[in-house]
Order: sequence, then structure tokens, then C-alpha cells
Amino acid sequence: MDVMAIEGGLPLRGEAEIHGAKNAVLPVLAAALLCPRSILRRCPMLTDVWSACRILEHLGCRVTVLREDRTLTVEAWEAREYGIPDTLAGEMRGSIIFLGALLARFGRAHIALPGGCRLGPRPIDLHIGGLRRMGVRIIEQEDGLLCTAEDGLRGADIRLSYPSVGATENLLIAAALARGETILRGAAGEPEIDGLIDFLNRAGARISREDGLIRIEGVQRLREVDYTIIPDRIEAATYLSAAAATGGEITLKGVELSHLEAVLPVFEEMGCRLNRGAGQLTLTAPKRLSPIAVTTAPYPDFPTDALAPVMAASLLAEGESRFEEGVFDSRYLHVEQLQEMGGQIRLDGQKARVTGVDALRAGKQLHCTDLRGGAALVIAALAAQGVSMIGDLRHICRGYDDLPAVLRRLGGRVWMISGVEEPHLPRTAAFNAFGHPFHPECLPQNVL
Ligand code: UD1
Repeated sequence: MDVMAIEGGLPLRGEAEIHGAKNAVLPVLAAALLCPRSILRRCPMLTDVWSACRILEHLGCRVTVLREDRTLTVEAWEAREYGIPDTLAGEMRGSIIFLGALLARFGRAHIALPGGCRLGPRPIDLHIGGLRRMGVRIIEQEDGLLCTAEDGLRGADIRLSYPSVGATENLLIAAALARGETILRGAAGEPEIDGLIDFLNRAGARISREDGLIRIEGVQRLREVDYTIIPDRIEAATYLSAAAATGGEITLKGVELSHLEAVLPVFEEMGCRLNRGAGQLTLTAPKRLSPIAVTTAPYPDFPTDALAPVMAASLLAEGESRFEEGVFDSRYLHVEQLQEMGGQIRLDGQKARVTGVDALRAGKQLHCTDLRGGAALVIAALAAQGVSMIGDLRHICRGYDDLPAVLRRLGGRVWMISGVEEPHLPRTAAFNAFGHPFHPECLPQNVL
């Protein structure tokens, strides 16, 4: 078992380059099944990406990763397989995103039901309902869904009753090669959707976003494409939270400020000074943070994925902060761990109140419960007095490229310890220099 040890209490200072967005690269990897060859640049090195790559390899694609360049190539012309077994699908919630691509490519798909973070029930009715309108027959089997479009996919006028990110992406990918025009009403507006549209259009799709709807004119085939993944706005929000919590000053490079419009005012509300530049942002934290009020909702509102990180920063604010989760049912799994560190948090359904404290104590046996909750523990540990130990890191490895190394470059005292049975820190432990959080056996075949 790998454990992250963090000695807190030091302000983060320095520069960090933001990686490509996890939530942007996953749908693009699924859509790559429709292109003969896709070169993806600024691809984050994450276990969720490896899971998607292994699905692609299982389907018959060749995947090559240039790890240092963060460049990944998918060659899909020999793909033959239309099923994703539960061993692969179970690794990531995002695997459902392959459904539209499989149907567009093969006219059929067999997909085991998805895994991923434990954020309450995660239904897929909107994905299914939209695909049915495109002529897909769906049979629920014990081991997953069998979907067929005997006569190919046909364009349809689809209204989503909720702007689901995943359903929008699935339907966009399916519609790219469908016969005729598809109109998606009530679609999600997240920047990651625009990234996917950009990728597909560069490959020859005909997709446009108009007021409140997405119009997709189906084409017969897609071509080779060279595409750069958009920067990760949630990774940016996480490092900003860490800098705020530790009273630091950091500059993030390679950020897209327009994607952070709902997030940045929250840091200003905390009393942080923000200096916006071209593709970069500097945050200077005040001596003591002010409390905040945050309600999450679909884009362009405050993102649900940034709730846990900013909540971690608010633990040390002077006064009461309020949070309300408006997207998922169960976004507070990490709260108990923060309470163990001395965080004063009261939960009431989807709402939380945080009364700021003067100091947090190190958590000796912390464990990540989900991806963003794990990030919140890391932030709290960076701000706490003493050495914290965080286990169940697989959650963090899903979504943060090189996290310990980035934190170390910012002056954080962070170590990875391999093979620790109990998550407590023996003072004599050999601290390993941290390379990459991935187990070699998880990697796709061609990592160069
Ligand atoms: C994506 C992101 C996730 C982010 C979320 C909301 C990826 C890989 N993941 O997840 O990090 O937190 O968007 O920004 O991009 N819902 C239904 N029926 C459906 C689909 C969704 O009821 O068919 C509900 C879900 O239960 C949830 C809400 O809609 O309550 C949001 O889900 P959705 O927007 O689909 O999020 P994901 O695509 O799963």
C-alpha cells in the first residue's frame, strides 16, 4: 500500500504548469475510436487515462504514449471488438462514454455497468434515452447493456431534461457519424464539451453550438487529427485552494482564465489577491482567510468538482462558510476525515457549514474516499501542523497528474512511501523520491 506523507504548515510558493483536463481527455479518447489516428497533446498522465487506453487496446486500437511529452497517439483503424468487459469498465465511471463511440463505429456495443467515484447513484437514463431516439435498441442484461443500431444511427431531435455532461458527450460522439442531423437541446455547457466538439470538428465532424442547443450534421467518416487537450480547471482550483489554505503565493501557468470565472471570485471572497495574466494567474493569500458561500451547479456556475478543495481551504477561515451541493447526492464523503483533523463541519443533507478554526492537526490515518475528497485531504494536510499520512491514493491518481512532484516544486514537504502496511509514519522510514503514481502493470503497452 502506498501512502503519501505530508508535513504541513509551510506556505506554498512558486510556479506550477497546469496539465490537460481529465474530464476533457476521457471523452476525446472515446471519440478517437472514430478516427483512423488521433494525436493528443497535453494529455494528462492519470490512471483514468490508462484505463481508457486499456479499453481502446481491448477494442483493437494501438495506443502509444510519449510520457515525457504528454503526447498520446491512438490508431483505431484495426479496431474490431465492440464489447467492454466489466474488468475494464469497472475501473472508471467514464467507461460509459464509449457507448456512443462503439455504436457509431460498429452499430453495436456491449458494455458492463460503470464504476468510478462513489458519489451516490449515478444513473445513465439520459444517455440511454437519447441513444434510443437515434434508433438504438437497448437490452439490459445481467452483465451490462447490449445496444444495437441495426440500420445504423440516425439523427434525432433530443432534449435533455438535465444538462448531463456525460450524456451530452455520448450523444455528440454518436451523432457525429449518424445519418442526418441531430439537435441536442438542454445540453451541458462545460468547457470540456467544447473541447470534444473542437476535437471532432478538427477530425471532420460538423458540429456547431447555437444558443441553448448543439447541432450535429452527421458525416460518413472522420479523418486523422492532431489535438491539444484543454487545461484542467479543477486541477487549477485545487492548487489555488492549497495556496490559499497555506497562506502562500503561487503562479499557475497554462490556465484558461475564462473557464475559471465562477471559481476565481470565491478566492477573492476569501481575501486572496489574484493577478490575471495571459494564460497565467497568480494568487497571493492573506494572513487569515475570510469565509465563503458556495453553491455548486452545472457550468457556468461553481463546479461540483471544486467544492471539496475549497472547503478544505475554508477550514482555516475566520468565521462561518456555507456550502450547498447541487449536482451529486453524496459529495461529502471526505468530511469525516477533515473533522478528525480538527475541521469544524456540520452537515445537513446537501448543505455544509464550516466554522473556521485557528489550526488543524495532522491526520495520522487519513484515507481518500473519492478523487476530489482526496484532494481536500491533501490540502488540509498541507495546512495542518505536523505530519499527516494519507492512504487509498488510487483515487487521487485518477485525476491529478504528478501531484506530489508539483507540490514539492511549490515547496510542499510531500513524500511517497511504498509498501507501508499501516498508514502511520515511522520516523525512520525511507522516504522514496517520488516518480509517478502509476503501477507499471496498469500502463498501456507502448509507453515510451
Ligand atoms: C462529469 C465529470 C465529473 C463532474 C460532473 C459534473 C467526467 C469524466 N466526469 O461527470 O467530474 O463532477 O460531470 O460536472 O467528465 N444524471 C442523471 N441521468 C443521467 C446522467 C446524469 O440523472 O443519465 C445526473 C447524475 O446522477 C448527477 C448529475 O446528473 O446527479 C450530473 O451528472 P453528469 O453531468 O452526467 O456528470 P458525469 O458526466 O457523470
